[in-house]
Amino acid sequence: MDIVLSGIRSTGQLHLGNYFGALRNFVRMQHDAHCFFFIADYHSLTTHPDPALLHENVRNALSEYLAAGLDPNVATIYVQSDLPQTAELSLLLSMHAYVGELERTASFKEKVRKHSDNVNAGLLCYPVLMAADILIHRADNVPVGKDQEQHLELTRRFARRFNTLYGVEYFPESEAYNFGTELVRVPGLDGSGKMGKSEGNGVFLADSDEAIRKKVMRAVTDSGPTVPNSPMAEPIANLFTILKIVSKPETVAYFTDEYNNCRIRYGDLKKHLADDIVAVVAPIRERIEAIRSNDNYLREVVGDGAQKARRSADATVADVREIMGIKRF
Ligand code: TRP
Repeated sequence: MDIVLSGIRSTGQLHLGNYFGALRNFVRMQHDAHCFFFIADYHSLTTHPDPALLHENVRNALSEYLAAGLDPNVATIYVQSDLPQTAELSLLLSMHAYVGELERTASFKEKVRKHSDNVNAGLLCYPVLMAADILIHRADNVPVGKDQEQHLELTRRFARRFNTLYGVEYFPESEAYNFGTELVRVPGLDGSGKMGKSEGNGVFLADSDEAIRKKVMRAVTDSGPTVPNSPMAEPIANLFTILKIVSKPETVAYFTDEYNNCRIRYGDLKKHLADDIVAVVAPIRERIEAIRSNDNYLREVVGDGAQKARRSADATVADVREIMGIKRF
């Protein structure tokens, strides 16, 4: 069975686009592959070193992913810092990572540009730590967005280099896994492009009903069609795309008909859309709230997760130590 692994940023909230996009696929994949999902809290230290926020961010991210359907009885779900074996593997891998190649990484260059006051070595070694996350379980597939593909390329390069240097076939060449056509792309509410985190564009899974209604009612529209069956401008097409995702086919058919006959009232469309988004989000939000205040449950989930993750992590670190010649007296 394939080993699939994904690291989850501990900062930033999940929105409807994540939910109907990658997350849905994660939830499905849990049953077809051996999946590891972890909250990347070590990584967050490269740019967010605030002790007061770190743990709350981990709690929030974990609660959201659990509420959205990651199942700790099926997948291995853990917190990165509960697996310090990753830090050891990262140190060992860093011996064969060249400063030049790390400095040339796009994400590093961007961070240098944005945070020129805090260009720390952790930032430079970000791709090494990420390679350690992946290689510690010798993962075959890593579902990531486009922005992470270069990191995956580096992971493969480090793996190959290790294998060549020590004359072993130990690490796999982990592939960036792209869901391709299975990936539902949810547009934003601001008229163009996909749903993201920017102001007024996205609905978060933790949003209140009122917040969702406000966002939807403020979504960008146009002055309405005047000629029957006219093509839809992007902002309108986007609202229909979301409607298709969250609403019943009858609702979609009704408003499509209204549009085609130039009778559409965008206020009505938005009201229905808001109701149907609320119907999807409200139960998830309630689960997020229940989970995030349940310390016992969270402790059990990450405790079990770390214990499961430790099995392959311990084995990998022991093998790598031996391959590199680290021996005990
Ligand atoms: N860098 C990833 C991001 O910003 C998070 C991450 C950390 C990750 N380690 C990983 C993703 C390992 C996949 C595999 O989204």
